[in-house]
Amino acid sequence: MPIPVIMDCDPGHDDAIALVLAHASPEIEILAVTTSAGNQTIEKTTLNARKVLSFIGSDAPVARGASKPLFRELIIAPEVHGESGLDGPALPEPTRPESPLSAVELAAKALRESDRPVTLVPTGALTNVAALFLAHPELKSKVERISLMGGSAIGGNWTPAAEFNILVDPEAAHIVFNSGIPVTMCGLDVTHKALVTRADTERFRSIGKRCSTMVAELMDFFVKFHEANFSFGGSPLHDPCAVAWLIDPTVFESREAHVDVECRGRLTVGATVVDFDGRTGERNVDVVMGLDRERFIDMLDGALRRLD
Ligand code: RIB
Ligand code: CA
Repeated sequence: MPIPVIMDCDPGHDDAIALVLAHASPEIEILAVTTSAGNQTIEKTTLNARKVLSFIGSDAPVARGASKPLFRELIIAPEVHGESGLDGPALPEPTRPESPLSAVELAAKALRESDRPVTLVPTGALTNVAALFLAHPELKSKVERISLMGGSAIGGNWTPAAEFNILVDPEAAHIVFNSGIPVTMCGLDVTHKALVTRADTERFRSIGKRCSTMVAELMDFFVKFHEANFSFGGSPLHDPCAVAWLIDPTVFESREAHVDVECRGRLTVGATVVDFDGRTGERNVDVVMGLDRERFIDMLDGALRRLD
């Protein structure tokens, strides 16, 4: 039986590839897609989600989420993802409509209607997930796990202490990590090892199909920021890790920890404080620390070969 998931994303190049991976994998059933503000404004991330889902042939409903964090002003990342939030491939206008429901309402509907526990897969700020739990605490019992991209055990990427998704809305992240629901945290510890090289991009392009070509073109743009600012030898493909872990957790290595979020520190706001010793609380978070990169790339390659 496929894992029923709700994708909450801010496409965003790596979010888009996470949607492609989830859609193309028989292990996953996408019940709904909700959008968050982060990589770009909510208007742009919602349009991008609709464009990607239309392009790959997904009929998952799409609902717009919060336009800003719970208590803070929005920060966005055009330097990484461009003015559109998905610069690079020229995607056609979407055929998928935007749901008339809000993200919280669509997620609540999907949870109520699912006959099996649902996994939430947030790959942007956690504003919508926190709002869902605040508005419908009774629906937490329908959530089996949260497999998220965000945080890190050691250091940040937007500030020295904080990873971008957590930094955008630290209070929301605090609510989610303290929800009592098991969390798989795909933070920078693993995503900075989930590197896609230029050779991998050419491997995807050589598949020669619409979706594989679109993903290669996403990587052509995504690599620019990372080659200019890091010396990884490839682009860290953050968000697909949160989906890939659900598909095959044996590709990854993780350690249990208690995790909470700094919401007040002048220099440390947005930091995930990862307590492997459990001194500060129950170790209900699987902190993903490593992966078999070749198997990760093979998984993406296999998914792209299943699409047209
Ligand atoms: O820090 C990486 C995260 O921030 C990814 O989810 C990327 O899409 C951006 O949202
Ligand atoms: Ca993202």
